[in-house]
Amino acid sequence: MTTIQQTAQDGYGLPYAYQVETITIQPNIVLAPMAGVTDSLFRRMIQQIGGCGLVSSEMTNAASVTPKALKHHGLLDYLPEERPITMQLSGNDPDLMARAAQTVEALGADILDINCGCPSPKVTGGGHGASLLRDLPRLSLVLQAVRKAVSIPVTLKFRAGWDERNLNYLETARRAEDAGIAALALHPRTREQRYTGEADWERIAQVKQAVSIAVIGSGDVQDAADALHRLTQSGVDGVMIGRAAIANPWIFRQVEQLRHGEAVFQPSPADKYHLLCAYLSACEAEMNPRLALNRLKQLIGQLHLGLPGSAALRSTVQRSQSTTQARLLLDHAFAGYLDTGVPPPEDTFTVIQRIKTVASMVQ
Ligand SMILES: Cc1cc2nc3c(=O)[nH]c(=O)nc-3n(C[C@H](O)[C@H](O)[C@H](O)COP(=O)(O)O)c2cc1C
Repeated sequence: MTTIQQTAQDGYGLPYAYQVETITIQPNIVLAPMAGVTDSLFRRMIQQIGGCGLVSSEMTNAASVTPKALKHHGLLDYLPEERPITMQLSGNDPDLMARAAQTVEALGADILDINCGCPSPKVTGGGHGASLLRDLPRLSLVLQAVRKAVSIPVTLKFRAGWDERNLNYLETARRAEDAGIAALALHPRTREQRYTGEADWERIAQVKQAVSIAVIGSGDVQDAADALHRLTQSGVDGVMIGRAAIANPWIFRQVEQLRHGEAVFQPSPADKYHLLCAYLSACEAEMNPRLALNRLKQLIGQLHLGLPGSAALRSTVQRSQSTTQARLLLDHAFAGYLDTGVPPPEDTFTVIQRIKTVASMVQ
């Protein structure tokens, strides 16, 4: 059994780091794995902004961890500057999972994570993800087989149970600890809830009390103050941030500043413009133009823009046919903010008119 050591504290006396066996995760605010979002580019964007202690790959089916499949989907591609990096696998066959785990170790992952929380019917239909919560003996076999197959630390990310009548997060946590799992991340909704209702952090606090390995809480962290509040209230070792990191990729840096008593950086419209442009350029450099445009559309769909006319900008970018069009829309929407950083004296109506004019020019 691994006993956790909290290796540092911040200005508020809150834990600032946690151990996953020999790996120190510092700061203890980490990026949640998100399928379709947390690819290498997104992770690097988060890390360049700073303040994030650990990133994770998207969930990858153990059956698609063959050399040919890896080349095709690229889900486990990463660059050395992303370390420490977790790679997440889904699956329910102990032998297949063990073999996939060995491949993940050979790829150079620092930590291997097992998904026991994905609620998607496509995933649970095959007995993977949250479906394992309905068969804990099988989950134990998977965890034991994977643990035996690799020497890197193995962690588990799970939900509170299949539904409210079958809450088994404490048993799941204990089984994981018994199987030699190095750390746990709990998203305390049930599979039935998917993303509805609220994440009940009391359940996370209970897991922290029930095991001696590191426990990370995941769910509904909205901003920097919220992240520190969750750390204080639940007594967990770390906090995982998902959707709020898409809306505000600066959130990790903001937590870092807040906990050290520094002024908290508030991104200006110009910062958001530069982030979107840099992200688009990075996408264009690494993928085909159609995919690059899709990635920009995905980011702008969720990034908090905070501009008058944000909705109009989003919807025109969503309809744009090329990266050139999308860039023009961004250039015009943010034009008045770029020189001084001071918002121009425009009302929402004017900005929307301007975006519409550009949209009609480029379509
Ligand atoms: C678009 C999206 C994709 C996700 N994909 C994964 C995944 O691949 N693996 C996983 O363990 N959790 C996944 N999750 C769950 C998140 O890691 C996280 O636990 C959940 O969103 C709650 O945290 P949040 O409120 O900070 O987003 C995903 C969530 C979202 C919104």
